[in-house]
Amino acid sequence: MVGVKNSPRGETILVVDDDRAFRIATRTLLEDEGYAVVLASSGAESLEQLAEKTVDLVLTDLVMEEMTGLALLAQLKERYPDIPVIMVTGFGSIQTAVEAIHLGAADYVTKPHNNEELVLKVGRTLEIKSKDRELQSLRQAVSGTYHFGNIVTRSDRMREVLTQIRQVADTDVTILIQGESGTGKELVARAIHYNSNRRSRPFVATSCSALSESLLESELFGFEKGAFTGAGAQRVGRFEEAHTGTLFLDEIGDVSSGVQKKLLRVLQEKTFERVGGNSSIVVDTRVVAATNRNLELMMRQGEFREDLYYRLNVFPITLPPLRERVEDIPLLVEYFVQKHSDLAGGNVKEIAPPVLSALLNHVWRGNIRELENLVKRAIISTPGDIITAIPLPEDRSVNALRTALPIESTESPAPYKEYLGAVLRDAEEKYLVRILRTHKGNINHIARLMEVDRKTVYRKMAEYGIAPEKYRD
Ligand SMILES: Nc1ncnc2c1ncn2[C@@H]1O[C@H](COP(=O)(O)OP(=O)(O)OP(=O)(O)O)[C@@H](O)[C@H]1O
Ligand SMILES: [Mg+2]
Repeated sequence: MVGVKNSPRGETILVVDDDRAFRIATRTLLEDEGYAVVLASSGAESLEQLAEKTVDLVLTDLVMEEMTGLALLAQLKERYPDIPVIMVTGFGSIQTAVEAIHLGAADYVTKPHNNEELVLKVGRTLEIKSKDRELQSLRQAVSGTYHFGNIVTRSDRMREVLTQIRQVADTDVTILIQGESGTGKELVARAIHYNSNRRSRPFVATSCSALSESLLESELFGFEKGAFTGAGAQRVGRFEEAHTGTLFLDEIGDVSSGVQKKLLRVLQEKTFERVGGNSSIVVDTRVVAATNRNLELMMRQGEFREDLYYRLNVFPITLPPLRERVEDIPLLVEYFVQKHSDLAGGNVKEIAPPVLSALLNHVWRGNIRELENLVKRAIISTPGDIITAIPLPEDRSVNALRTALPIESTESPAPYKEYLGAVLRDAEEKYLVRILRTHKGNINHIARLMEVDRKTVYRKMAEYGIAPEKYRD
């Protein structure tokens, strides 16, 4: 490594060790890397230094007379929670090092350390910290956007959800948010984070779908250098990035069984290994998971681990689809018109009443996201200040077909098979909802009445996105 003395990186490192030789050697090493270095020979002295100087990182020995490294760590976390601490541990005290991580140390190096490892870890820790800081300012920019006030609703069921969020935000409980696509799952996840005592820590969102099993594994848990072809450098995963904060695992229903197993372990033990790594990493990461799939059904069909399901489902939050809270539509429309008024140069527009009633009758398959997108499009394409039309997408799905086929129409109808299929599906969906309601979601009973097996009932319900538990008392 080329010495870059006298071109400081602007970061100051405090080195704490009662061994003078180590202090001096480390100072030389770090100064050669361009860092400013402050020395302390004891925990007490390091606290004095910290009272006077701005320090970006503390590197402390674990075994010291008077105050041990762990005791110092505890003090530092209490007084300077934002300064990362790297522990230097004696050979063979990995157990204590792990404990140190648990107590909030950012990392550890073993002594006699190799210089390259030390420099690498210092660099990486500082990098994570600066990323944290970036995130923090981003967070401030958006924090106005995500609080309860911005989950707009007047529906009783959503109000219940808001109460649930309030109850649970400030705990470390794992949360499972379920709801159809576009119902506001991510919005709720953010509301939980920004109303928890982790609000000033990172909120890391990651989607579990669209990645292959091995990519997802690396994404979540990180990997060591050389773990696989192309792993040129070590990378921390999302669980580590979200340490002390919240990890939002979106589309949790899409994870493979291999990753399910690993997730179970992190949730149970808070530890994992990076891909290709042997040492266990301990994290304090709160998990909020979401899915638009029916996890309970998946579990019963053996597609989702039962133990993981119960781990995730400690505190379930279910978001109702927009069609079950149409009373929210006018409110949301108004809110989105305000929210996106800058699309029309700040000219806030009004919605003509007939437009609104058309919206009330639309089948919102894409829920609130679909509504928001339509409002946005309408704002852009309306020249005046009253929105007189919101073109609804032609819905050739079951719901559109069921009412449409006026015999007097001169237009050619939908293709025969497609039409019949749609009508049948529509009838089947209605039948299922009705029988669920009348028999209070008792699948055994319903399967008998329908003269099919239970699996078929479950499969059909999944097909239509019907949740049987909703019909149980
Ligand atoms: N109650 C609400 N009040 C205001 N805005 C909302 C509300 N619910 C959802 N939105 C907005 O609707 C859009 C979709 O919400 P979000 O991304 O949270 O949904 P989702 O359930 O995660 O969807 P998907 O399953 O498609 O990922 C976002 O722009 C969000 O801000
Ligand atoms: Mg989402």
